[in-house]
Amino acid sequence: MNSEEIKAVPDQMIFDEFFRRAKCLQYPPRKIVLFGPPGSGKGTQGSRLTNELCSCHISTGDLLRKEIREGTDLGMKAKEVMNAGGLVSDDLVLQILQRKFETPECKRGVVFDGFPRTVEQAKKLDELLANNNSKIDNVFNFHIDDEVLMDRLAGRRVHEASGRSYHVKYNLPKVEGKDDVTGEPLIQRNDDKPEAIANRLSTYHDKTKPVLDYYKDNGVLTTMDANQPIQTVWSDIASKIFNRK
Ligand code: AP5
Ligand code: MG
Repeated sequence: MNSEEIKAVPDQMIFDEFFRRAKCLQYPPRKIVLFGPPGSGKGTQGSRLTNELCSCHISTGDLLRKEIREGTDLGMKAKEVMNAGGLVSDDLVLQILQRKFETPECKRGVVFDGFPRTVEQAKKLDELLANNNSKIDNVFNFHIDDEVLMDRLAGRRVHEASGRSYHVKYNLPKVEGKDDVTGEPLIQRNDDKPEAIANRLSTYHDKTKPVLDYYKDNGVLTTMDANQPIQTVWSDIASKIFNRK
């Protein structure tokens, strides 16, 4: 943003942003993992957490979809696997993760969303953090029943560029079919079709769930009831991170 563009920003917006960042200073930078099956609410809670902590939100799914939109080699390699509901190779995922992790916005903490998804990824994440004198502070496991997440994915609408998600029943945008922040149209994700959802779910149970064992013994894991409404899930996370309800 150049100085002319900064002058054009309304005062109220600058004050709000100033107070948001000032409030964040009371919290030390944290590394938080949001873990759970498709549709369990990782992205929804991750956006709010990122906003309240002024950290960065690393959703490997959003990063991969960006690569696909931009038509990069990496995106082209990931596209078919994602549409079918499989897992993209650890090698490709680690490349995009590392690139994002090194950006300045990630210096004030990171919310990892949908990563790690294999034990290999969990080990690599520990290595990456150890090399930066850091470690995982919290892993939130979003426990949810399969019927509930089917209903959530079927009604989900997303803002493609930011990954912000809404729901036709549970999380309505201010204007139907439009993103609250940009006013741009909302779309349905390619992998929110019934066959892909079934594959994503079985991939989660077979390959991703075992990662929980990796975190079980080091005292960072909290399992939450993600079947509850958005605000209740948020209160559970907030009580752990900010000691408040
Ligand atoms: P990714 O984008 O990570 O998808 P996912 O894990 O399948 O999870 P979703 O984004 O579908 O769900 P969410 O938990 O974020 O739920 P949301 O908050 O949107 O990954 C996509 C693909 O990329 C993977 O299948 C894989 O191919 C590849 N990939 C990504 N990371 C990878 C990795 N590390 N390794 C290998 N491959 C990788 O909520 C869902 C809906 O419910 C929304 O409509 C929302 O408004 C609503 N909602 C949320 N919470 C509630 C609530 N409490 N009550 C009612 N409604 C709610
Ligand atoms: Mg998501």
